[in-house]
Amino acid sequence: MRTLVTGGAGFIGGHLVEHLLEQGDEVLVLDDLSTGSLSNLRTSRRHPGLEVEIGSILDPVAVNDAVGRVDRVFHLAAAVGVKLIVEHPLQSLRTNIHGTENILMACTEKDVPLLLASTSEIYGKNTADKLSEDADRILGSPLKSRWTYAAAKGIDESFAKAYHDEHGLQVTIVRLFNTVGPRQKGRYGMVVPNLVGQALRGEPLTVFGDGRQTRCFSSVNDIVPAVVRLAETPAAVGQAFNLGGQHEIAILHLASRILEITGSHSGIRLVPYDQAYAPGYEDMRRRVPDNAKARELIGFDPQTSIDDIIAGVAAGLLNSVDEDDWVMSQAGADLQVATS
Ligand SMILES: NC(=O)c1ccc[n+]([C@@H]2O[C@H](COP(=O)([O-])OP(=O)(O)OC[C@H]3O[C@@H](n4cnc5c(N)ncnc54)[C@H](O)[C@@H]3O)[C@@H](O)[C@H]2O)c1
Repeated sequence: MRTLVTGGAGFIGGHLVEHLLEQGDEVLVLDDLSTGSLSNLRTSRRHPGLEVEIGSILDPVAVNDAVGRVDRVFHLAAAVGVKLIVEHPLQSLRTNIHGTENILMACTEKDVPLLLASTSEIYGKNTADKLSEDADRILGSPLKSRWTYAAAKGIDESFAKAYHDEHGLQVTIVRLFNTVGPRQKGRYGMVVPNLVGQALRGEPLTVFGDGRQTRCFSSVNDIVPAVVRLAETPAAVGQAFNLGGQHEIAILHLASRILEITGSHSGIRLVPYDQAYAPGYEDMRRRVPDNAKARELIGFDPQTSIDDIIAGVAAGLLNSVDEDDWVMSQAGADLQVATS
């Protein structure tokens, strides 16, 4: 099996590439290294089954060429997270909408099945007890760039469904909720690597608001095999699946666990929202996945505890040779509780 992974040099992409190579695939990575890094592929780089092409999904020639050489595609390349899109709205929208349509068109034309990575951000401000796949989306104004990541990923899903319905594209959508693990960069606002980095450096852990906002974190080691299983399950085609952690945790509690597990004596500093965010920024109080659909179809049952996730991120940081992993700009910290 020859598999294309767009965004394969990213955090999740790097883990997915490792998994696919281990199961015997030949893997072609297409990545422009905008937020990814070849260091995310360092464990696979000498594998004879790996080929890396530095190029953009915005380049239809590169996309057509790459899709034409494979049997299936995992499309992960994206401008990821609210912070990046707020800072670079135009380029991010182009990547996430036009880039994805290039992939959808090439897969349709060449009759290649596709797994599309979407996000829990699409549910926006819906804080329902458990968000099922048909839950309503509650988004703020399209003129607030905070919502355009969710808007663009929503358009991607609608495009994918339309190509499936009208042209028979074999596409499966996964909506990932706060996926965490070694090699995730803190500088794009991801809360776990940010707080673990602060703990290891002996800096106070900055938690925004009252810290009672909650998230459900999942380990990349649970998510990647589930993504691959869904891509290999014919009954999943044409549908979307939540993939998230099972346990809800308040960010303040998360910070305490991080201090305990890393043995850090850093304290926790609560930062009021109006200091942490641009005026008008809206954070979600909670976001809880209903994983029932994936559980019923593929037996999805993520087991990695939050303590093990924290320990894995800390070990990854301590072993990292990548200076970047240690960089946490203040801007990165500023949006940490909201990204997914
Ligand atoms: N990490 C999470 O918690 C999470 C949650 C929900 C959804 N997702 C989705 O999972 C996917 C992977 O996210 P990640 O966390 O690994 O982020 P990441 O930033 O590490 O990976 C994205 C990759 O896409 C590449 N890329 C960006 N623009 C590109 C372009 N124009 N052409 C080619 N490559 C390009 C980047 O260089 C990077 O390697 C994304 O689609 C994201 O929306 C992630």
